[in-house]
Amino acid sequence: MMVTPPRERGVTIWFTGLSGAGKSTLAEALAPKLAGLGRRVEVLDGDAVRTHLSKGLGFSREDRDTNVRRIGWVAHLLTRNGVFVITAAISPYREARDWCRRTIGDFVEVHVATPLAVCAERDPKGLYRRAYAGEIPSFTGVSDPYEEPDDPALRLDTRSLSVDDGVAAVLDLLRARGYLGAVGASRGGDA
Ligand code: ADX
Repeated sequence: MMVTPPRERGVTIWFTGLSGAGKSTLAEALAPKLAGLGRRVEVLDGDAVRTHLSKGLGFSREDRDTNVRRIGWVAHLLTRNGVFVITAAISPYREARDWCRRTIGDFVEVHVATPLAVCAERDPKGLYRRAYAGEIPSFTGVSDPYEEPDDPALRLDTRSLSVDDGVAAVLDLLRARGYLGAVGASRGGDA
């Protein structure tokens, strides 16, 4: 009997969280897993986007919202063409994230909920130290707001979760939402 394959749907996996929370690390680990499952994948990372698509934008609320909506718009265009898009920007404001959710439709929000103290302790770019010293104004979590998602599809606390476990949790979520075909069908690719 012929089995009709499901229509290939794209989706945006929207990581949000503080600087240093682990968004980019998770995005970079998730991308090859999805590619290995035969999906077309694009990563839109905040730091990378700010070197081209959002070059010249700063960190006022207005500029952050512009940045986030640009990422959301590109994610929308790709998602509707069947691509799996992974975004990794702080995206601190609920309203802009909700605009992206509405615009994209196929959208799962993942809160990378590493606590501020842990991000500041890790301080991979040395920015928290500078922010606490008053050298970087309006630094998210230190002197600028981060609005936590009320009802994310997934909340990952990277204190208690390895990168591999975080990626596995996202893959399980995508399966549960019907973006990766039948349960178990793609298990073999996850090792
Ligand atoms: S967002 O708020 O517009 O979503 P985005 O993710 O693109 O932020 O950029 C955040 C990155 O910019 C941080 O990881 C950090 O490296 C750098 N950065 C520089 N200044 C700031 C600031 N004032 N607040 C937060 N991040 C900053």
